[in-house]
Amino acid sequence: MMPAPSPVDAYWLDRATALVDWIKVPTQGGAFSFHTPVSIRWFQDGILNVTTTCVDRHAAATPDRVAFFYEGEDETQRQTITYGQLQDHVCRFANSLKALGVAKGDRVVIYMPMIPQAVYAMLACARIGAVHSVVFGGFSAHALHTRIMDCGAKVVITADGGTRGGKVIALKSAVDEAIPETPVQHVVVVRHLGQDIPWTAGRDHDYGDLQKAAAPICDPEPMQAEDPLFILYTSGSTGTPKGVVHTCGGYLVYAAHTMQTVFDPKASDVFWCTADVGWITGHSYIVYGPLSMGTTQVLFEGVPTWPDASRWWQMVDRYGVTIFYTAPTAIRTLMRLGLDPLNTTHRSTLRLLGSVGEPIDPEAWHWYHTHIGGGRCPIMDTWWQTETGGILMAPLDHTHQKPGFAAKALPHIQPVLLDTHGQPTADEGNLCFATSWPGQARTLHGDHARFEKTYFGDFPGFYVSGDGAKRDESGDYRITGRVDDVINVSGHRLSTAEIEAALDDAHGVIESAVVGVPDPLKGQGIYAFVVLASDVMASDALTKDLMDHVRTYISAIAKPDHIQFCDGLPKTRSGKIMRRILRKIAAGESDFGDISTLANPEVVAVLRRTTGV
Ligand code: WT7
Repeated sequence: MMPAPSPVDAYWLDRATALVDWIKVPTQGGAFSFHTPVSIRWFQDGILNVTTTCVDRHAAATPDRVAFFYEGEDETQRQTITYGQLQDHVCRFANSLKALGVAKGDRVVIYMPMIPQAVYAMLACARIGAVHSVVFGGFSAHALHTRIMDCGAKVVITADGGTRGGKVIALKSAVDEAIPETPVQHVVVVRHLGQDIPWTAGRDHDYGDLQKAAAPICDPEPMQAEDPLFILYTSGSTGTPKGVVHTCGGYLVYAAHTMQTVFDPKASDVFWCTADVGWITGHSYIVYGPLSMGTTQVLFEGVPTWPDASRWWQMVDRYGVTIFYTAPTAIRTLMRLGLDPLNTTHRSTLRLLGSVGEPIDPEAWHWYHTHIGGGRCPIMDTWWQTETGGILMAPLDHTHQKPGFAAKALPHIQPVLLDTHGQPTADEGNLCFATSWPGQARTLHGDHARFEKTYFGDFPGFYVSGDGAKRDESGDYRITGRVDDVINVSGHRLSTAEIEAALDDAHGVIESAVVGVPDPLKGQGIYAFVVLASDVMASDALTKDLMDHVRTYISAIAKPDHIQFCDGLPKTRSGKIMRRILRKIAAGESDFGDISTLANPEVVAVLRRTTGV
């Protein structure tokens, strides 16, 4: 006889059977250790293919239900995709990938605009057991190359190009630049804009031709619960991005569970998450969470302010959106543009709102609540991370709304606030977690040691999120922001070290230090201190060159807002850059505390003068 599962395991096993279709239903819950060697496993004896839950069962039961109302940035480009059609697209694409030699366990990089084929591509990989790694379409060729190399992708799926705010993003040419000297053998190209693009015969394949030739039936590959589903790169404290690995069983259960617990979509709901599939929010709350529940969604290629600031609200009315999930940075941008853009729409179908990616300030919260939600929609301020797979905290009690608070952890999620010595504190500290949940990342691709060190190294026995948080007398949590060298610009996570590596790579730069500065619109802005070689002159032209260099090295979102040239950086005697001081200088503060332990305290005085503080 097997011992009965613990109450926590019984809870998760129950969620696993209620929400997911299994080929073999799991009998084992969680098995994990947050001490070295760190190991996290869920539902180990379960076998499944995630596309059965996300596609097949809805295609069978409700084939005509709409999966996506898609709209291109050009609003005449509209498409309605039913679950029946979704199944056809996914299976044909899966067969196309097989024909290109893609097999279970192979990595496929997806570098796409926000078009339905991006979703088909992810699900087609999942169907055949290939591991997808979506790289946000805003990343540069260099950043794409680094990620292709790290995961060892055999195939890249892309489009000729995409549009954002009226500008064309030349995706295929970035791919052409990124793949020399990588293991990539094939490139699948969706002709989205219909542009003339260079073509390498034998290597490049037209998506439309492949789909026509492919059979519409493809059996789902049986996967162990702990087989990888995807790798998603995110920024950490060093210059190299981290390939966060999520697995089939636990991730899907958690995406479905949080979708239901936080948003509770019904057949009559229309859900719209405005994220890009290049980020975890798009993975969990456009693809796996909502599709697992057979939800009808809006999928939009464009930005909220193009062609004008009414665009989102027109779409909310057009499709009767009932649940709307977006980021504070977008709310602040729209708030600045005033109420006029709201006058032409009613938004009366909305019943629930969501926020994610960064702390939402009370002013933006109230604007969102009053003007977008008409004062009647609760706001789910959802706190989570790429590494958590899905939402860990949200104000589930709709009668208890506190602006700026992600409020409470979901059931069986155990937050703890630890001080710098790893001791539990009552009201403020490092936000950590004492136990695992099914959606937790399992490792970093190819670097389990970095996984252990980054997330479990500081306080063995706890998952360390890297965020600080406060807890009030009612036990509600308010996130105070990152405590590490990661900055959050418009809800995008960037590593200061990665931006420094880009600057240091530029001609004439000796060293650099990048810090975040408060920014009313973006949450944080990027402030760079740069030390030049003695024979290089500081100039506006050089500032622009360095900014462009970061853009091509990483992406436009990583471009510094300010570059300050200086003769030296404040350092400890052991040579460590004192970012605490640089953050204060950048923010225009003048009280630096005790600087006598610096190796070069005189540098600080000069830096103050340069900024005119
Ligand atoms: C970091 C994770 C979660 C998907 C999008 C970002 C910040 C996220 C909130 C929130 C305050 C938040 C944290 C976190 N963050 N949601 N509701 N309130 N801060 O995923 O790129 O992995 O970034 O975003 O700092 O650590 P990510």
